[in-house]
Amino acid sequence: MGSNPVDSWNARDLQAGLKTSWLGHRLYMFDEIDSTNLWLKNRLTAETDPHGTVVLADAQRAGRGRLGKSWWSPAGTGLYTSALFYPERFDNLGITTLLAGVALAEGVSALTGIKVGLKWPNDAILHGKKFAGILAEAGTTPRPWLIIGIGINVSGPVPEELPNAGNLVSLGGCPVDRVLLWERTMETLERMYDGWLSTGNEPVLERWTHYNQTLGQRVLVSRAGHPPLTGIAEAIDSDGCLRVKSANGEHVRICGGEVSLRLADGRYAPS
Ligand code: BTN
Repeated sequence: MGSNPVDSWNARDLQAGLKTSWLGHRLYMFDEIDSTNLWLKNRLTAETDPHGTVVLADAQRAGRGRLGKSWWSPAGTGLYTSALFYPERFDNLGITTLLAGVALAEGVSALTGIKVGLKWPNDAILHGKKFAGILAEAGTTPRPWLIIGIGINVSGPVPEELPNAGNLVSLGGCPVDRVLLWERTMETLERMYDGWLSTGNEPVLERWTHYNQTLGQRVLVSRAGHPPLTGIAEAIDSDGCLRVKSANGEHVRICGGEVSLRLADGRYAPS
């Protein structure tokens, strides 16, 4: 870390315990950064960072979420990390978001034994509250690239305006070491990515279904340019899109936008 180290974070400790074959072998660490996704994106044209480069920050000034939202990233209590991939094949962004969600869920489970839930497409939840999210971004210039950003509220405060958010330590009821959580999550991300390249989407979808908190639920879908849609989330298609059976019996494929789950009191919980 730089001039203001927080707890035991330093590159040597982090990499010493990291049991990956290639992911995170080039690691950049910051006390504070604008956004780890943005930092990697801004360096793409230089083509200096190899496949598997990882960035980790203790705090982000301008953490980014899906759909133009911001991701609150205070110091000392969260994990804000992004990984750069140069995929040999690339189907769509949807499946990589699900893949990263599974990696995150398996990382949490490997460290704590806690089974978290995944809400389509990118939220990790526990007891109905979101504590982590994924921001996958991809492009083709200067060559096909994929950046997977993972944000985890490990033990931080929760903004008042987000009643459906929480942190992993409080929700899980156990202490969580950020370094170990990052290491386990990187290891499962590498395993999921290698498995996806060699075997395709099916195993990703099967693991995602194991953590599913969306299918079978009554949902409200908000998409730009479409009226709100309510219905039952019925399946995930092979490309990672969600299929919703609408109130009038139509089967609608949802490949973007926001999905809110209906709560017991009839309201829908936004992410
Ligand atoms: C979401 O739930 O909308 C996605 C949140 C993703 C946040 C992470 S934190 C690390 C990486 N850098 C960013 O600016 N965003 C992602």
